[in-house]
Amino acid sequence: MSSVKSLTFLELKMYDRSHQGVFMQRRVIIAGNWKMYKTNDEAVQFVKELEPLVQDSIPAVYLAVPFTAIQAVSEAAKGSQLVVGGQNMNNALEGAFTGEISARMLLQAGARFVILGHSERRIYFNESNDFINKKLNRALKDGLQPILCVGESLEEREQGKTEEVLKKQLTECMASVPANAEFVLAYEPVWAIGTNQVASPEEAQKVHAFCRQVLRELWGDMADQIRIIYGGSVKPDNAAELLEQPDVDGLLVGGASLKIESFSQIVNYQKVSKT
Ligand code: PGA
Repeated sequence: MSSVKSLTFLELKMYDRSHQGVFMQRRVIIAGNWKMYKTNDEAVQFVKELEPLVQDSIPAVYLAVPFTAIQAVSEAAKGSQLVVGGQNMNNALEGAFTGEISARMLLQAGARFVILGHSERRIYFNESNDFINKKLNRALKDGLQPILCVGESLEEREQGKTEEVLKKQLTECMASVPANAEFVLAYEPVWAIGTNQVASPEEAQKVHAFCRQVLRELWGDMADQIRIIYGGSVKPDNAAELLEQPDVDGLLVGGASLKIESFSQIVNYQKVSKT
């Protein structure tokens, strides 16, 4: 893992609480979300090929893989800096919930984080803010780092309701989450997911700053330590400009995380953007 001290401004988002002269640092995260793609064999092969290309990467590299591949990928990634995670979980500790999976099961298989509240879960599986909130609290309690996804639909955006929707999602999903919780927030506008319609860097920055403001209302200065990552049609050619925005602390990548070339280029965005 890279030493935090050797990282430069772009590598870590530095936030100067100048009234106290204290620098806060937020390490950039590039997270792949494989959704329902890749068998175990394909997943392990991918990780073996990816590792040498990202081993010196400055951002933290996360991979949210299918449940069935968590163990095999974790073993294949041992000793590397890849962080393996799941894409969903149930809020119960255990129980008669056919087809569900618990935080403890994910952890024991090797997962360190879990995506919660992805719009595909909200839309296709009717997940509510309340349910996501319960999962978030469970993940934190059991020691998994959640990546909480929020985002407005196209219709909500066109009606000028983006901020209203995000505030509701954030406050409801985060109810009773302790202020020192280790979690990551992902802003994923639904209209940008899988559509090749990426938010412009300015749009992303505006919404991320708004989300941080909502977090500040909930958690005060702790909000400056939370990483807010962007997701929705991220590709190698738009990654760097998104990450240049002061409140964009990382990227959640769907389609482009399925190919070694595009994912490694996004992870190495600084090298790509400067050549
Ligand atoms: P996309 O998906 O990069 O394919 O748009 C992002 C996501 O759903 O997390």
